[in-house]
Amino acid sequence: MYRQQLVEQLKEYISLDTALISNLIEIPKEESHGDLAFPCFQLAKEFRKAPNLIAAELAEKVNAGLLPIFEKAVAVGGYLNFFLKREAVVGDVLANIGQAGETYGDSEERKGLKVAIDMSSVNIAKPFAIHHLRSTMIGNAIANIYTSQGYDVMKINHLGDWGTSFGKLIVAYRNWGHEYDLSDNAVRKLLALYVRFNQEAEQRPALEDEARAAFKALEDGEEEAVTLWKKFIEISLAEFEKTYRLLNVEFDHYLGESFYNDKMDAVEEELREKGLLETSEGAEIVDLSAYDMPPCLIRKSDGATLYATRDLAAALYRKRAMGADRLVYVVGAEQKLHFRQVFKVLELMGNEWAEKECIHVPFGTMFVDGQRLSSRKGQVVFLEDVLRKAVEVARGIIEEKNPDLPNKEEVAEAVGVGAIIFNDLKNNRVNDVNFVWDEALNFDGETGPYVQYTYARLSSLLRKGEYDSQAFDPGSVTAINGDVEWSLVKLLGRFPNVMERATEQYDPSVVAKFVIDVCQIFNRYYNTTRILDGERDGIIQKLTLVSATRTVIGKCLHLLGLRSMETI
Ligand code: ARG
Repeated sequence: MYRQQLVEQLKEYISLDTALISNLIEIPKEESHGDLAFPCFQLAKEFRKAPNLIAAELAEKVNAGLLPIFEKAVAVGGYLNFFLKREAVVGDVLANIGQAGETYGDSEERKGLKVAIDMSSVNIAKPFAIHHLRSTMIGNAIANIYTSQGYDVMKINHLGDWGTSFGKLIVAYRNWGHEYDLSDNAVRKLLALYVRFNQEAEQRPALEDEARAAFKALEDGEEEAVTLWKKFIEISLAEFEKTYRLLNVEFDHYLGESFYNDKMDAVEEELREKGLLETSEGAEIVDLSAYDMPPCLIRKSDGATLYATRDLAAALYRKRAMGADRLVYVVGAEQKLHFRQVFKVLELMGNEWAEKECIHVPFGTMFVDGQRLSSRKGQVVFLEDVLRKAVEVARGIIEEKNPDLPNKEEVAEAVGVGAIIFNDLKNNRVNDVNFVWDEALNFDGETGPYVQYTYARLSSLLRKGEYDSQAFDPGSVTAINGDVEWSLVKLLGRFPNVMERATEQYDPSVVAKFVIDVCQIFNRYYNTTRILDGERDGIIQKLTLVSATRTVIGKCLHLLGLRSMETI
């Protein structure tokens, strides 16, 4: 914030390149030291003087011709510290936010750049796992952040809807399907059928042959097999949709792995033409030893294509048919090697863009109460149950806090689900996350409920104060002058930079941490200031700060995929 003005101010007196000046500018750690600082160490050579002397001399010159946004410049050691003129900045920032409203922090710079985000990508007939939740919510937040920065975003659900396991499921369904009522909790029943197949096949190995034949029938498009497969997809999706609705996430495309079945031969052909394909023990592979990676398997010796082949076909489809400029994959860190291989093969095929525009956005594992949730080892924890429990806990808290709330159910859902989402997104995405019930739902901690609650508090203040934005005059701000509100205003002013950083790093936690800071500083302000007391003019100014804070918090909640409510 105001970096540009500081560059303007400084470039009259020093001969460094403006970009370098801008890069050198720092924000002092101690707020009392000033709002912006210019370190003079790099100038020592040019001026042939010690940095502290340079800073002192510059201070004198600069103070004689200060731009109106600056209050003063002070030399401290080798630094030249600048203090902004508070009234001017406060009026400026508040007027900006008021004008931009919900578009505050948005940018048009990337207009037209198409980004395909591969996210969620759950597997048919298997539980919606916790790593899929992470992919869904991190992907959704990145999509929102990218959209706000002007990118043209496509959210793609790359469903796991193909593979030999469907042969097993078909056989299981034929044999025991009548014992399972698939009209509700279908995914659990399909999973049970799958587990049963594996158990029974241990006793009767012939079942495995049957399953192979069933998958072959599916590949050949035989009607009965295809009908069953479609049914599994339909009932699984109907259930996933419920979870997506609860999470408030929508997709632009559902393009499962099976969508690429008829596009695989062309990929293989292209690889062969380009001399990349080799036969190894009957399988078709692309050798990647020159890049210190194991080979990328394209086709197994039995003729089946693989996960990687489908990802190659999908990447080329997204690029060539869907017109994507950038391909982003929000998938767990355990698939790092897979994506390195796929991206390298794309590059070797002559797709120069692949090196820069294919991006794997990995994330760590999520634990619930310190436990890994895994569908293996029979320890199945369903995401749906976790979400339902979170809503229940939230309901209990709201019942206690605000028993007269008219839309308790809606609020409990938004707060419970929000707690899980925020707990996920507030950590650097590459770190593992532990979800602890009491912590995530604590209304005073660094949590989703805390942010949502602060938003509601701000809304209620504006209602009580009958805030009228038209009455605010940014040219004469007198009632916002304490240190706490100064920190708050500066923080709000920095939001566009926060968005840039979140975009660059593909990391929603940048936004989550920022909004926690905003809430904490606001609450400090709220606890020390009588916002609705005093002259009407001052009240309007203070409420304008409240309104700007509310705008920014609401925006962050939206970006992260949480709902905001006027009352909690
Ligand atoms: N369905 C896969 C899984 O559950 C994730 C797919 C990720 N996306 C991709 N294009 N490979 O592990």
